[in-house]
Amino acid sequence: MRADATIIPCVSGPLDDDTLMPAALALREGGLVVFPTETVYGLGANALDPHAVRRIFTAKGRPAGNPLIVHVPNAEGARALAGHWPETAAALAEQMWPGPVTIVVQRGPSVPDIVTGGGPTVALRCPDHPIARRLIELAGVPVAAPSANVSGSVSPTRVEHLCPRIRAASEYIIDAGPCEYGLESTVIDLTVTPPTLLRPGAMSRASIAAVVGPLSDDRSPSGGSPARSPGTQGKHYAPRAEVILVEIPASGEAHCRRGINDHLLRDRDERGKIAWVTHDPECEEVLSAAASVIVMPSSPRAYGRRLYAVLQELDAAGMETIAVHLPPDTPEWEAVRDRLRRAALR
Ligand code: TXA
Ligand code: MG
Repeated sequence: MRADATIIPCVSGPLDDDTLMPAALALREGGLVVFPTETVYGLGANALDPHAVRRIFTAKGRPAGNPLIVHVPNAEGARALAGHWPETAAALAEQMWPGPVTIVVQRGPSVPDIVTGGGPTVALRCPDHPIARRLIELAGVPVAAPSANVSGSVSPTRVEHLCPRIRAASEYIIDAGPCEYGLESTVIDLTVTPPTLLRPGAMSRASIAAVVGPLSDDRSPSGGSPARSPGTQGKHYAPRAEVILVEIPASGEAHCRRGINDHLLRDRDERGKIAWVTHDPECEEVLSAAASVIVMPSSPRAYGRRLYAVLQELDAAGMETIAVHLPPDTPEWEAVRDRLRRAALR
């Protein structure tokens, strides 16, 4: 097997073109590069080179029908890849890019089939990370990039969490430290009216709706064919440990005590090494009697930033069960709850 990727450290210090150029050239020449974005780390390839893109699918073990997001340096770059660029796309790009919103539009003729999963649309995103943007500019090509994890597992929000298989498949890994949002971009389908939310994510539904009007939800049945957005179907974002979600109807210690008694303590022995993840500091003491406890931030944004790292760390610590105290069903928790729900699917 080829040697592991070359790491380019960019955690501190100025961002200079000489540092990024080898990775940009590798992209242009058909190589794979792991790079930081404001959401999660991506595994990038030249989107116009079908052979390079095929390497992404192989490295991730990704089903061929699951299309990739193409990363561009600006709205013009996106427009050049679209068959049709609706006003809603122009408005979202103008107001939210660079930023964690991915827009799905009709594809143009230059986009290879392998990128779109053979479908008629393409997903486009302009990331808000100075290294991602400069890398794409220097490469001079649009960059197809899924999250840099093996299909179905947890997306990396720092280079330490890349799995060996992704490391081995990449020419370069650009290390810029932890990602700012920690959850993937929000994916919006603009080929339909009203615009449809295909994946909740780092940008809230409300801020997108403020630009394009109310969003409808993707109602395609799970596992149904063809899926509107295949990657949003079924189990995903899952650590090795079994994730169980525990709904505790109100906050506070007494409720917490009842919640864990109801859900967990009765079959404790079968669950092996248990970790509790809670966003409610009042629950900490009750829970720590039962298992090791991770107290998460109580703001959705900070919780999202930590979530994947915590799942990775608990796997590394050999946990067999991760019991998650489910945050409330309110709009600001939508993306976090989506990821937790899919991590817990069997
Ligand atoms: O934050 C992000 O979006 C990260 C960073 C690296 O940019 N990327 C990412 O890519 O999350 P990936 O491949 O892990 O997720 C892309 C999602 C999948 O659910 C996929 O099915 C959906 O976008 N998607 C891609 N192209 C699509 C299309 N043409 N139509 C509908 N859904 C699409
Ligand atoms: Mg992914």
